[in-house]
Order: sequence, then structure tokens, then C-alpha cells
Amino acid sequence: MQELLEAVRPPAQIKAAYRPATTPIIEVSDVGKIYGRGAPILDGVNLTVHEGERVALIGANGAGKSTLLKCLIGLHPTSNGTVSTLGERFEVIPSKVQRRRMRLETGFVFQKHCLVARRSVLSNVIHGFLGTVGSWRGFSHTTSPKAWREAAMRALEDVNLLDFALHRADELSGGQQQRVAIARALVRKPRLLIADEPAASLDPTSGRDVMELFSTLCKRQGITLLFTSHDMQHARSFADRVVALRNGRIFLDRPSADLTDRDLEETFNV
Ligand SMILES: Nc1ncnc2c1ncn2[C@@H]1O[C@H](COP(=O)(O)OP(=O)(O)OP(=O)(O)O)[C@@H](O)[C@H]1O
Ligand SMILES: [Mg+2]
Repeated sequence: MQELLEAVRPPAQIKAAYRPATTPIIEVSDVGKIYGRGAPILDGVNLTVHEGERVALIGANGAGKSTLLKCLIGLHPTSNGTVSTLGERFEVIPSKVQRRRMRLETGFVFQKHCLVARRSVLSNVIHGFLGTVGSWRGFSHTTSPKAWREAAMRALEDVNLLDFALHRADELSGGQQQRVAIARALVRKPRLLIADEPAASLDPTSGRDVMELFSTLCKRQGITLLFTSHDMQHARSFADRVVALRNGRIFLDRPSADLTDRDLEETFNV
């Protein structure tokens, strides 16, 4: 443990090769989505997100926010249109190889943090390396490669949970567990972070803290952040840009600083 702490103490590395904010990370062209024989959930969606941007995706319940996130990374097939995520261009569904390449560079955080309750906080963060190798072996804090343990400790330091590294995950509060999930998502230094209502299950103070952490870490590390939220203060404060879905389409897309109360009323007044 001491050895790990020493490896972590120097300031966490900030990405040296920050790319200009002109490289598109996500390009969605005329994307539609219909589940089964139902009505279209997405209909002619066009969206470009550039590297380093922090984008909030808002909209009423059922507007299609989670669906769009899932289509972007190939968790759900689209019904038509073209998607390009992290340079992987596909229609309907990405190939296995494309999906694997995308996932290696993408971190995910969901409303439910999905930690392994009985495992240590450190092991849970090391789980962020799942997918880089073919098996589950080595995903604990005692058997994983040293480089992973050190990276996990640095990620825990970033979310101010270094002191809890060896606690069981279920000993932490909901807000702390969500911070562990953030560390797990960031441990591999992804280029893209996708977060679906990351603060929804937290009280207002913890929710704000978690969002602030997210936003700051992404900015500092040059990570592109796309998150959904029902909290308009979060969208305004923690994103550079707000995109609203309504009736299956992009209804507004503007800098968060320019968002008006009227925009919000119209977004939610379906
Ligand atoms: N796997 C699925 N099969 C069938 N219909 C689905 C599926 N997932 C979502 N839907 C439907 O698609 C619509 C959009 O759902 P989605 O979860 O994308 O909305 P959302 O904007 O994320 O809503 P919320 O704010 O409540 O999270 C809803 O009507 C939902 O019932
Ligand atoms: Mg949703």
C-alpha cells in the first residue's frame, strides 16, 4: 500500500498531447431509431461533438437521450443514418472490431454505479481495465499488474478517495460510490466519457459535487464529455454546450451560457 501511495503522490499526469477542439469525436448524420414496430424515437438526428467539448444532452423523459447514447457506441442498432464515434464510422451497428476499438477509448458512468459491492474500492477501479485483456483474472488489487494498480490509485486520488482504496465498495455512501465509478471510467484515460444521468440518484449537494468533479477532470485531462441530465443547473454550469432532444430531433444546440429559461420551457413543453 505504501509503495502504491508513493507512486501516486506526484501530481496526476495531465494529458500532454491535448488535441485542438476541432477534431470531431462524434458525428451523427440523419440518424433514426425505431424500437420494434413502434413510433420513431430518433428521427433525423444530426450532431457533431468535438474533442475536448463538454456537452449536456437534455430533454423530457422518453425524449430518446439514453437511446442516442447507446446508438453512439453501438449498444443499440440505429434504424438509419450514419454514426462516427472516435473515428469508427458505421451504419446500424458497428463491427465487433470497431466496437472494441471504441470501447477502449470510452469511459461510461450511469445513474447506477454498478460497483462490485464485496470487492475493494481499488479493485473496482481496476475493473476499468476490463476489455483490454480477454479474461477476468488479474482484476483484483492483489493480482493485477502494478501499472494498473498505480493508475487506479491515481484515479482514486483525482476523486479524493485515496484513503478508501482498501475499503469494501458497499461501505461507501452513494455519492462516494459514484466517485469510484468516475475513477473507474477515467482510469484508462479515455478520450470520450459518456455519462447517463450520473447525478440522478444523489442528493443535491453530492450531485453537484459529482458533476463538478466530472467536469473539472474532463477539462483538465482533455476528455470529451457527453452527459444527460434533468438538472438544468448542472447542464448550465458543467457543460460548455447544451443540446436538447424533442420529438426525436435536436431541438436546440447552443453554448450553455446562452441558454434561456424560454429554451428550457420549450424543450420540456411537449
Ligand atoms: N430497449 C427498448 N425497447 C423498446 N423501447 C425502448 C427501449 N429503450 C427505450 N425505449 C423507448 O424509447 C423511448 C426513449 O427512451 P429513452 O430511455 O431513450 O429516453 P430518455 O430520454 O433517456 O428518458 P429518461 O429521461 O426517462 O431517461 C421511450 O419511449 C422508451 O420506452
Ligand atoms: Mg434516459
